[in-house]
Amino acid sequence: MSQNDIITLGDLEFPKRKVWMKTYGCQMNYHDSERIFSHLENLNFTPTTDQEDADLLIFNTCAVRDLANQKFYSHLGETKRIKQANKEKKIAICGCIAQTDGKELLKKYPQLDFAFGTDVIDSINDFVYRTYAGDNKFHVNTWNKGSDYSIETKITHGTPQAFVNIIKGCDKFCSYCIVPFTRGREKSRRLKEVVDDVRKLVEYSGIEEICLLGQNVNSYGKENDESLAMLIQALDEVNGLELIRYTTSHPYDVSDELIAVHGSSKKLSNHLHLPVQSGSNTVLQRMLREYTAEHYLGLLEKLRDSNPNIVISSDIIAGFPNETEDEHRDTLKLLDAAQFDFIYSYAFSPRRGTKASRMEDILDRDIRGRRLREIQAYQLEIQKSIREKMIGETYRVLIESKGNMRGIEKWKGRTNCSRIVHIQDERELKWAWCDVKITSATALSCQGEILSIHKSR
Ligand code: SAM
Ligand code: SF4
Ligand code: F3S
Repeated sequence: MSQNDIITLGDLEFPKRKVWMKTYGCQMNYHDSERIFSHLENLNFTPTTDQEDADLLIFNTCAVRDLANQKFYSHLGETKRIKQANKEKKIAICGCIAQTDGKELLKKYPQLDFAFGTDVIDSINDFVYRTYAGDNKFHVNTWNKGSDYSIETKITHGTPQAFVNIIKGCDKFCSYCIVPFTRGREKSRRLKEVVDDVRKLVEYSGIEEICLLGQNVNSYGKENDESLAMLIQALDEVNGLELIRYTTSHPYDVSDELIAVHGSSKKLSNHLHLPVQSGSNTVLQRMLREYTAEHYLGLLEKLRDSNPNIVISSDIIAGFPNETEDEHRDTLKLLDAAQFDFIYSYAFSPRRGTKASRMEDILDRDIRGRRLREIQAYQLEIQKSIREKMIGETYRVLIESKGNMRGIEKWKGRTNCSRIVHIQDERELKWAWCDVKITSATALSCQGEILSIHKSR
């Protein structure tokens, strides 16, 4: 990225400066960080990975579980020393914790200069201007009250993969989840705007793979009589686009139309992440998930009928308040029936302000931890047998990087269905689309050999 010596804006001069950012949480936050970097280029900032070297430090925070919070607070504590050593440095927080607790944190941590919430990230340059203009200690966490949601995707990373936000917020209010409080109400971009945006990304930024983003992309377009199925069908027609992924989905909103598109789309990934959270109907009820285990398994059956190559992954919460051993075992049974490719699993973490945090009988940490370990061990066995069946099969793989694995240089790529594959090959393959035959597999990864290169850079 080229920088000007000085950019003048209003009464202020912006010389070359460096920004360091630490991002916690989900893809939504990573995508927001990229957006922030992209805006800051216009104020003469370039990114640095060295905290000590930065003029501006930003923490993009996540509130979803206690562990993410703790990591952030310990990093934030360390910045006291940095500020004391150089008072000119500016330190800011944004993201989900800043949305709900920004004001209190500004009071509590003297090293912080400003805080901004999730719905105002596109105003980052105003905030930076304000802080350099001498405005001391401010926080902005307002919601955009307009009914429309219109943006253009901004990317800075220079790879052929891009996240494309299509819906923001969440209206589901699952009883354990903080996200509806930190991300506000659902709002979708218009279908035409997204398709034009993707077309430009393909044409001008060399993007070949996109991931449509939202906390619940299955609700996409409801307010405009549009839908995720319609969007995928339109994106199928974008020349030069190779692969469409989307994340993340709520089972309640998986329509028959969308299931059909999983069978008919030319470009949609064979991977679907469909969080189930629990296999017990009584727990699902207390989670306010609005479906049963039977309904969920019925969806998997329909999806697999529609696309026999589909692979499904999921999220599970272990040790929800009041969960009995029988209810916990229902989750293990569901793992058996669902045959997930992989899962993300978490011990229940009470979040202030949510219904579940006020439930009686929050289980001991030990019980939650033990059930989590049981779920993970059980799933690993399932995964091992699924992966073994891949041996001898051929997959289309996008090669992402090269790394050293126990002394051997290997390429790392992802199949169209999101499975990681390692390949030993002397050729330059970065960002090549290859057809790869799987030669061996473990529960967590596979090894393969290249049969042919479909497209290279
Ligand atoms: N929107 C997605 C959905 O509906 O499943 C996921 C959103 S959330 C950012 C990602 C995952 O974090 C959830 O699927 C859930 O498994 C987990 N999670 C959310 N709140 C949690 C809590 N209080 N304790 C433990 N895990 C939680
Ligand atoms: Fe949280 Fe539920 Fe919304 Fe997912 S659907 S973000 S779990 S409230
Ligand atoms: Fe965390 Fe906010 Fe994402 S709470 S998981 S960063 S939406």
